[in-house]
Amino acid sequence: MHLARLQRSTPFRLAVAYGLLFVTSSLLVYLVTYLLLRAEIYSTLDNSVTETYSVIQSSYAPGDIEDVVQSMNSFSRLKNGDRRIFYLGSAAGKRLAGDIAKFVPATGLQTITGERLGLPGNERFRVKTGTIDGNNLLVGESLEATEDLGQIILANFAWMSVFTTLLAVFAGLFLARRAQTRIDAIAETMTEISDGNMSRRVRLTGSGDDIDLIATQINSALDRLSDLIESMRQVSADIAHDLKTPLNRLKLILEEASLREENNESVGEQLRDALAESDQINATFQALLRISQIEAGTRKTRFASVDLNQLLRTVVEIFGDVAEDNAQTLSFDAASSPDCFIEGDKELLMQLFVNLVENAMNHCPAGTAIRLSLRHTGNHCLATVADNGPGIPADEHEKVFRRLYRLDKSRNSPGHGLGLSMVKAIADLHGMAIGIEDNHPGARFVLSWERPAEQN
Ligand SMILES: Nc1ncnc2c1ncn2[C@@H]1O[C@H](COP(=O)(O)OP(=O)(O)OP(=O)(O)O)[C@@H](O)[C@H]1O
Ligand SMILES: [Mg+2]
Repeated sequence: MHLARLQRSTPFRLAVAYGLLFVTSSLLVYLVTYLLLRAEIYSTLDNSVTETYSVIQSSYAPGDIEDVVQSMNSFSRLKNGDRRIFYLGSAAGKRLAGDIAKFVPATGLQTITGERLGLPGNERFRVKTGTIDGNNLLVGESLEATEDLGQIILANFAWMSVFTTLLAVFAGLFLARRAQTRIDAIAETMTEISDGNMSRRVRLTGSGDDIDLIATQINSALDRLSDLIESMRQVSADIAHDLKTPLNRLKLILEEASLREENNESVGEQLRDALAESDQINATFQALLRISQIEAGTRKTRFASVDLNQLLRTVVEIFGDVAEDNAQTLSFDAASSPDCFIEGDKELLMQLFVNLVENAMNHCPAGTAIRLSLRHTGNHCLATVADNGPGIPADEHEKVFRRLYRLDKSRNSPGHGLGLSMVKAIADLHGMAIGIEDNHPGARFVLSWERPAEQN
């Protein structure tokens, strides 16, 4: 990995930050432990010197310095190597007992070099002095062992610090590399996706950790994206296919017009046909555009509370006469239907029910009864548009909502096969579920949505 890339890598930066924290805190712990241990060892040494001094001092009986000399000698015999030093001498400087040449007065407990006490080498001593019956008494203990122990502890801690640092560096790098590899795999997948390989997905480790969680979310977003792209591709192909027929028709009409024109025949009829055909194509495009706009969801900003009971009543008022002209009946029992409200766009909701009513009128024969209804079920509202016409076969229930899809038997009747696509787009925009049921006989379109909270 390049150094510049490494520096930009979040796992690496985290690893460095935690490594530094780990090393600094370990060093602090070692330092504090060392200082405490050192203080403890020194205080043990001081206690030992003070204790020996007190024992020797307490052996003195007034006027009898000899006991002190004896006590000191027995301590000298007991002494462990060169660790302890003793001195007892007269005020004039005459040595009475002990193993050092010179007396050096000390205040309290003091550290004095062996050189000052007339001892060879550069050993240091912890020393306590005092006077007994006018004589000078000195008791001391070598600091060598204590200092050696301190050195050992310090060296130990130094090694432990080196080990801790190495551990922090290698563990940090290992963990950073592992996380980075997984992040790189995600980046690689995204690059492949943007290169057009929509089937690629991020591989999961199955650990269920946060990176796996993000990978799962990315994968489901990619699934949705490829579904959308696939359906867009399908829709574009369908549209292109379905528009080929009217465009071919237009071309044939224009070819015929041109031929007639060459023969000096009238072309008025062909021009009118061409105009009608291009109007049809235009209307199809308009409808397709409108569906796309509805699907884009921008109309949501205009949402307000809409009274469905009122809306269905209006639909029946407007289309009742048209149905009558078709020898059909259109009914809605507003009085015995509940008030059902929905947050929505009134104009679009009107369009939805108009499309369903128009379908029933256009695709059902004379004598058909078209019924609208509205009711509550639990915390849902249900609106239906039912007829007793020829119905829609169950295996076509899904397909009729596709853009430009029409049943074979309707191919020769006017229409674009876009009415139900718009119904579906409007229902989706309002969070309404839509389904087709068999009305035995006929078709029943059922719309259901959750009742607004204030109505429950
Ligand atoms: N109530 C119904 N009874 C029987 N068939 C229906 C009914 N409603 C719709 N269909 C069938 O579903 C097809 C799709 O309907 P849709 O409203 O999408 O298109 P259309 O009515 O043919 O044309 P457009 O609505 O764009 O003018 C229709 O062509 C028709 O075959
Ligand atoms: Mg229609």
